[in-house]
Amino acid sequence: MIVLGIETSCDETAASVCRSGKILSSIVSSQIIHSEFGGVIPELASREHELLLNEVVNKSLIDSKISLGNLDGIAVTQGPGLSGTLLTGISFAKGLGIGLGIPVIPVNHLEGHIFANFLANDKLNFPFICLLVSGGHTQLWSILGMNDYELLGETRDDAAGEAFDKGARIFGLGYPGGPLIEKNAEGGDPNKIKFPRSLLEDNSLEFSFSGLKTSLLYYMDGFQEKESLLIKDVIASYQQAIIDTLVEKMRRAVKLTGITRCVIAGGVAANLCLREALKHKLPENELIFPDLSYCTDNAAMISYLGELKLQFDEYDSMGFGAIPNLKLR
Ligand code: KG4
Ligand code: ZN
Repeated sequence: MIVLGIETSCDETAASVCRSGKILSSIVSSQIIHSEFGGVIPELASREHELLLNEVVNKSLIDSKISLGNLDGIAVTQGPGLSGTLLTGISFAKGLGIGLGIPVIPVNHLEGHIFANFLANDKLNFPFICLLVSGGHTQLWSILGMNDYELLGETRDDAAGEAFDKGARIFGLGYPGGPLIEKNAEGGDPNKIKFPRSLLEDNSLEFSFSGLKTSLLYYMDGFQEKESLLIKDVIASYQQAIIDTLVEKMRRAVKLTGITRCVIAGGVAANLCLREALKHKLPENELIFPDLSYCTDNAAMISYLGELKLQFDEYDSMGFGAIPNLKLR
């Protein structure tokens, strides 16, 4: 089967074509318009999607050498995400689907992130633990089979991606913060400053990052660089505090569930220091990391999961709308 995927949940306009579980094309246009505001402006994001969708979809069809007439279905992100941006993608997908007389398959963005791991390793088997770390979510899942997911823990306040973004704002680095923090931490000493790790009660699989951000805010008040303490040391130490917390929770999840296969997903999964720390702290485990291009928002994960759902007849073609706070379970 051949499925076109469309993703517009936030500030990436993306389209992809998947045939029999293989990605033939994946186009992502990141909206740079938001960088001057230090965060995504929803109304601007919707307008940008409207401007870009046609071109992005066209490019993904050209790259995959697939014509509209060859498509068996169109998968589109239903949520979670921004209401207006989701609606832009869904309206586009439905219009195209009705015109072509093919089904439109709603896809949960979070499930898409998790399933991006099958694109990195098509031999990935259930069960596995997934650390889902994006701009809006930080969750630990036990993925037991298709549609059989158990939430083990999630953040009580900020998501890990938000901790990166807010930290970057305090450092004056710009948006999105994750890649900028990772880059500016290079060569810094991650053990120079001991920022708090909010590990909560023993065995807790929940997360909390708001205290860390506040402690950075106080630390940076009146901060002066000197030879023995450079800004890159502070950035590396801040990044390390986030990573240590994520790795410790993954370690606890393995211990509590007895599931040893682990994957990561979402934008923060692109962080190479996180990947190294997981390898270092969980040497006995089977670790699978998605391709860097499939960590941050993309439509490849949507077209891949959409094709699976189409095969299993798991969709309600036109009778669905955007669900900004859509949950996975
Ligand atoms: O999955 P994603 O693209 O969008 C959401 O679904 O939220 O995740 C975006 C988040 C942002 O907070 C961004 O700062 C973070 O992922 N991120 C990173 C890296 N690349 C993106 N965080 C840490 N290191 C990175 N290399
Ligand atoms: Zn995402």
